[in-house]
Amino acid sequence: MNGTFTYSNPTRLHFGPDSLNALAAELQNYGPSVLLTYGKQSIKASGLYDKIIAILQAAGKTVTEDPGVMPNPTVEKLAEGAARARACRADLILAVGGGSVCDYAKGVSVAAYCEEDAWEKYYVRMEPVSNPVIPVGCVLTMAGTGSEMNGGSVITNHSTKRKIGRVFGDNVYPRFSILNPELTLTLPRYQMVAGCFDIMSHILEQYLSGTDDNTSDYIAEGLMRSLIVASRAAAVDPQNYEARSNIMWTATWALNTLISKGKTTDWMVHMMGQSVGAYTDATHGMTLAAVTLPYFRHILPYGLSKFKRYAINVWGVASEGKTDEQIALDGLDAMKAWMQEIGLVMSLRELGTTEDMLDGIAEGTFLLRGGYKPDLTTDEVRQILAESM
Ligand code: NZQ
Ligand code: ZN
Repeated sequence: MNGTFTYSNPTRLHFGPDSLNALAAELQNYGPSVLLTYGKQSIKASGLYDKIIAILQAAGKTVTEDPGVMPNPTVEKLAEGAARARACRADLILAVGGGSVCDYAKGVSVAAYCEEDAWEKYYVRMEPVSNPVIPVGCVLTMAGTGSEMNGGSVITNHSTKRKIGRVFGDNVYPRFSILNPELTLTLPRYQMVAGCFDIMSHILEQYLSGTDDNTSDYIAEGLMRSLIVASRAAAVDPQNYEARSNIMWTATWALNTLISKGKTTDWMVHMMGQSVGAYTDATHGMTLAAVTLPYFRHILPYGLSKFKRYAINVWGVASEGKTDEQIALDGLDAMKAWMQEIGLVMSLRELGTTEDMLDGIAEGTFLLRGGYKPDLTTDEVRQILAESM
């Protein structure tokens, strides 16, 4: 394990088909005013909204509703939610939905009492949080982002064409998250598989970096193997509870900071995917799927031994009689076959990206330095994006 680190995670998880029963006790830890935030329509269609309202009423809460959080929440919506949270003096923000609702709730948490433009201060300039924050709790309805147990909050500014992810500290993590895999069963297949790829990408961003032997990489391999089995089963039968519960639990552990401990990380697939999202508003997991293989082929020569290990340990590629490069490439072929099997989008064009956007997407891609090609340039990003079309 590299370096010196502290591991702590303040989020209490309640997992399983009966986990919504834990909400009443959690609510007792907060004052009477609850800002209930949710997406467009799914929680009303599924009946979850009625259950949540009944629990809040039984707990004697005053509920202010903040509906309409869109996928890839915007800076305008963030300002609206912050004003609402301030006006009702929210004691708790209860986020009911997917990663977008959960990310947005964290944004509202820090923005409500921010005296400056919260987007500029906390997302563009990434300044430490210097104002009071409002506690966040989460009832998750979509598995993928890991937002239920991390400090991440991704907000999109369409006018400046920037989608920026900020990682806040412990005080902004959800205080509790309720993970009932049954709540994910109503997800459209497109969202389910996009979530699966988001999970895979989170693990790979942390796995495909560094040359040292460390425990985090072994945990990552186990998570990926579980995810591959579960996503295949869920693609065949989306109502398979065992598969959906494994996907949900894997998502949480993929991005709650555990597997990044003691090692370097990459995150360039996410940087490209987010910039694609700023231009197209496409589903997050699909933007990652479209750019991953061209990026991996580009960096493979620089991280050959790890790509070989990935092929053997995660995809079960046979190594006899092959060069290291052939083994590594066979691993990427196995990954591609899995992506096609579960129904992922494999090109940027299918997500509404056009040639004239590529320069801007490349310019808007933040260059991080933890991957196998730390000197990656904007020109190379442009080339990878073109190969992803
Ligand atoms: O708005 P509603 O009607 O609720 O519909 C949503 C939305 O259209 C629907 N949905 C969610 N749960 C459902 C459901 N439909 C039926 N049944 C259910 N049970 O699914 C659609 C997508 O939801 P969204 O929350 O946008 O998806 P996801 O969880 O993938 O979140 C994506 C956002 O999270 C960010 C992404 O960039 C994107 O903005 N990320 C957050 C991260 C973090 N906090 O650490 C890391 C990730 O890398 C990611 O960047
Ligand atoms: Zn992601």
